[in-house]
Amino acid sequence: EKGTYPHYMLKEIDEQPLVMRKIIQAYQNDQNELTIDADILAAMDQSDRVYIVACGTSYHAGLVGKQFIEKLAGVPVEVHVASEFVYNMPLLSEKPLFIFISQSGETADSRAVLVEVKKLGHKALTITNVPGSTLSREADYTLLLHAGPEIAVASTKAYTAQIAVLSILSAVTAKAKGRELGFDLVTELGIVATAMEALCDQKEEMEEIAREFLATTRNCFFIGRSLDYYVGLEGALKLKEISYIQAEGFAGGELKHGTIALIEEGTPVIALSTQENVDLSIRGNVKEVAARGANPCIISMKGLETEEDRFVLPAVHEILTPLVSVIPLQLISYYAALHRDCDVDKPRNLAKSVTVE
Ligand code: M6R
Repeated sequence: EKGTYPHYMLKEIDEQPLVMRKIIQAYQNDQNELTIDADILAAMDQSDRVYIVACGTSYHAGLVGKQFIEKLAGVPVEVHVASEFVYNMPLLSEKPLFIFISQSGETADSRAVLVEVKKLGHKALTITNVPGSTLSREADYTLLLHAGPEIAVASTKAYTAQIAVLSILSAVTAKAKGRELGFDLVTELGIVATAMEALCDQKEEMEEIAREFLATTRNCFFIGRSLDYYVGLEGALKLKEISYIQAEGFAGGELKHGTIALIEEGTPVIALSTQENVDLSIRGNVKEVAARGANPCIISMKGLETEEDRFVLPAVHEILTPLVSVIPLQLISYYAALHRDCDVDKPRNLAKSVTVE
């Protein structure tokens, strides 16, 4: 039930800190160490390449998951949109492991790939919010999201739960392989939960940003580099899905290869900067679009902030920034949809669970 909340989406955004804490608990053993089923660890260890397959928001979580698995566990990863993979299967490695990411566990496009993968005799792990769902039953292994039911069509808490579970899978695999992480993931995810709480308390600021940048615009761009680029893709999907504003996420460096032609006087450009190694480059991209009339809204992170920033996120570990940087984007989309009188929880033409190919 949505209780005192006007919409499920807002309730589900607010639940994210609690979901982080539930996930930490669910994946800890009696010694408070993070654990993953031994069979899954063995499958990760034996695989020479992981193929992540998903759709929509879950695909965006997969892009972040690729960085985690490659950087922490040292296993190469490819991320594929399920509906493309099924008709255009890439050349597979010798020992592939498939990871299906799906909130509902019922997405037909992903299931079609799983059916093919099983025919080829490969192993599959499903990361889902729904125990007993089709993708969970048909895969060899399952990791649960523990996010509680997600009712709003726009996925919010499932995205952050997927990223948190992928971080745990990567960290525990790294440990099993004897790789040094250099940080304590339980502590860092706890810091994330606290930062999420602080962000959920700043709704007025998000409403203001939505009013200022998005109340009447026809389009909006999200730019970022590295992890910020992936979060920008998710921000754009959220915005188009519920507010019907034409929105696109771009890698900052790609602007000059075409997209910058779309910038007009007043075009809103939401720029994320949470990664130290690309901070200067993305700020350079902001200057390029501003010089062509764009209205930039920079969202940065404590430690990287400058006077030109519109909003500064609390600091979290650099690899976990998507868990916090997505929250303002979710809230901005929510308020943009409200300002434009859209049906937030049930946007037109969309279903919560897409069970047709
Ligand atoms: O249940 P799934 O995670 O497999 O769903 C995949 C997409 O249909 C879903 O994430 C969709 O993109 C959301 N409505 C986005 O908010």
